[in-house]
Amino acid sequence: LTSFTTAAEAADPTNVAHRGASADAPENTLAAFRLAARLGADMFELDVQETKDHQLVLMHDTTLARTTDAERVFPGRSPWQVGDFTLAEIRKLDAGSWFGSRHDGEPVPTLGETLREMDGTGLGLLLEIKAPQLYPGIEGRVAAELRGNPAWLRQGRLVVQSFSWRSMRTFHRRLPQVPVGLLGTPAVQDLPALAAYATQINPPYQDLTRAYVRHVHSLGMQVFTWTVDDPATWRRMASYGVDGIITNRPGMT
Ligand code: G3P
Ligand code: CA
Repeated sequence: LTSFTTAAEAADPTNVAHRGASADAPENTLAAFRLAARLGADMFELDVQETKDHQLVLMHDTTLARTTDAERVFPGRSPWQVGDFTLAEIRKLDAGSWFGSRHDGEPVPTLGETLREMDGTGLGLLLEIKAPQLYPGIEGRVAAELRGNPAWLRQGRLVVQSFSWRSMRTFHRRLPQVPVGLLGTPAVQDLPALAAYATQINPPYQDLTRAYVRHVHSLGMQVFTWTVDDPATWRRMASYGVDGIITNRPGMT
């Protein structure tokens, strides 16, 4: 594993595969994560949500419609909210065929099986808790799953992030040894208070300036930016000194 860079180092940014190598395989599936490893990513990113029976599954949208065949398998269950389906039901779905027939039958993974399956690759993990307001208590359940897979708790291997900064404060209390990242672009004046619990600030690249990156670094935090899919933008972000770049094309560099 190439552990992610610290502010003090002028190393290449950590290459993070967004939802796996999602330009070339169906997002948030083991196929996409394995491809990320083959393409040379340092870390992979995924989105965690919760089923009706409180199991942790990987899905970006809060509904199953775009990336599975839920509409066909469960007609009449509109709008196919993740949290309205049990794990057993979600396991009946195909999360690959929408992307291409080559991926027919690819299942929706659980967080647990992903941690076990990907451990041997040595990749790091950027774990996003998606829409935590829909799943009260999800922070504790993610923390418990991680405690059950301690290989992932090795220093430098795992970051947990969310657009909900409140959720990240909660997660930080549940499992302080795991660094947390805040998705979005906090105002510069708010950064010192956030540094009390956050290790990363993770804005879209369109928001970034060299000065902002410097501010974040001066407070001892890192910047991972998203979603960069072209080499020119990658080089510009690297020149700003970002610590990580989240990309759908981890093989691009
Ligand atoms: O890791 C950054 C990125 O995943 C945040 O946006 O919508 O792709 O989850 P989204
Ligand atoms: Ca995400």
